[in-house]
Amino acid sequence: MTTQDDDRNTVDVFSNSLRQHGQSFRALNWGSEEGQANRFRILCEIGLSDGDSVLDVGCGLGDLYAHLQSQGVAASYTGLDITPDMISTARQRFPDAEFREGSLLGTVEPSLAQVDYVLASGIFYLRRDRPFEHLQASVRRMFELCRKGLAFNCLSSWAGTASSDEYREDPAQCLEFCRTVSPWAVLRHDYHSGDFTIYLRREAMRL
Ligand SMILES: C[S@@+](CC[C@H](N)C(=O)[O-])C[C@H]1O[C@@H](n2cnc3c(N)ncnc32)[C@H](O)[C@@H]1O
Repeated sequence: MTTQDDDRNTVDVFSNSLRQHGQSFRALNWGSEEGQANRFRILCEIGLSDGDSVLDVGCGLGDLYAHLQSQGVAASYTGLDITPDMISTARQRFPDAEFREGSLLGTVEPSLAQVDYVLASGIFYLRRDRPFEHLQASVRRMFELCRKGLAFNCLSSWAGTASSDEYREDPAQCLEFCRTVSPWAVLRHDYHSGDFTIYLRREAMRL
């Protein structure tokens, strides 16, 4: 399994899933709509607010855009996804939002560079080829793109019920790596036993 195989597998899995389930949280492989929304809520708690620009990496069907609207957050939104069918469906659903097709680790067009926040929900669990190295490269890229900070989630190896071959990471090891990118790092393992979120800021929070 190579990085290219992983990318191809990701596109295959989500294209098939969209064909099978249609425009539903099931197409994104979430267990429930509440679980998906809960993760959005935690990501946004990094401090996303009115007037901020946000890049949603692995945007899927653009549900984070709908979430922001439902919460009344007037952020300028762009979604990026490696799966072409996800992007074309997201564009049909939300004609007013910006969507781009592509991989985070591919060539990112200049207009996507320098947004306030980069958020990513559910983009790591299918990786097979050196998944921690892939996560590290992804975090470095997200940090390059953000002015204020980034937030991402990942399945946690602290969960007692690991059974599938999905990629789970040790949250402490992940935090240790993230601290080498920015000292302003937060680990959250307080919303789901099998999942953690990390915030990385460019500057310390003003208290
Ligand atoms: C589990 S789905 C989550 C979608 C969305 N974030 C949500 O929560 O509704 C993961 C999505 O990330 C996309 N993806 C995975 N790795 C990616 C990468 N490196 N660059 C861009 N998109 C990626 C997949 O194509 C898929 O649509």
